[in-house]
Amino acid sequence: MTDHQTVQYYRDRAREYEAIYHRDDPVRQKELADEADRLRTLAKGRRVLEFACGSGWWTRIMSETAESIVAVDLSKEMLQIAASKSFGCPVDLIESDMTLYNAPPASFGLIALGFWFSHQPRENYDDFFEMIRRPLAPDGRIWMIDNNPFEDDPLHEHTRFDQHGNNFKTRRLNDGREYEILKNYFTEQELRGCFVPRFNLDRLTFGTYYWSVALRCNCS
Ligand SMILES: C[S@@+](CC[C@H](N)C(=O)[O-])C[C@H]1O[C@@H](n2cnc3c(N)ncnc32)[C@H](O)[C@@H]1O
Repeated sequence: MTDHQTVQYYRDRAREYEAIYHRDDPVRQKELADEADRLRTLAKGRRVLEFACGSGWWTRIMSETAESIVAVDLSKEMLQIAASKSFGCPVDLIESDMTLYNAPPASFGLIALGFWFSHQPRENYDDFFEMIRRPLAPDGRIWMIDNNPFEDDPLHEHTRFDQHGNNFKTRRLNDGREYEILKNYFTEQELRGCFVPRFNLDRLTFGTYYWSVALRCNCS
């Protein structure tokens, strides 16, 4: 379950959310474009389950090559923006808390999560990894992208750490409203430490602004 403030933050931010994809920075744009290419390849011909799909930025990219997509988010405001997009394959947008969404087991070729892992409380990693492992088909893949701290400043607008080591920071909307949001950052080694014991790590890309992974089930 996501805490109330984070839920409200994303509902309130929906209309300005995609500004993160339009920053005037060639390095960011190149990293995002390269990731979009990798994701199109990964999604090709697969049935995709996307958790926390937001406004559908990555949904649209995957839809260019995927067979079909089920995309889940709990924000009605985000899903309305997603619904206004043109998709290249059938896309089912579902308003639900992803932890409560009852996905059929072992039935999706790709589980996708854009910019979610950084918001996942550390103390719930076991439940989180079970949530993304369960619906994965035996030959399926998991894809994630998330932020690296910019300007070498992991504690930018940092407010506190909690007892589990989760980092909290202040986020401000264009109209000045402020929210305290859980946002964790990771070194490359920490990411390997999260994923390698639980999955086969096909790829880890650790860029200036973003990291991304492609994982496979390590089930026998
Ligand atoms: C950082 S945004 C990422 C959106 C999108 N995946 C992207 O990469 O552009 C996080 C999203 O998670 C959604 N969210 C937060 N908690 C959730 C939950 N428990 N179940 C489903 N969606 C959730 C928010 O509504 C928001 O759209």
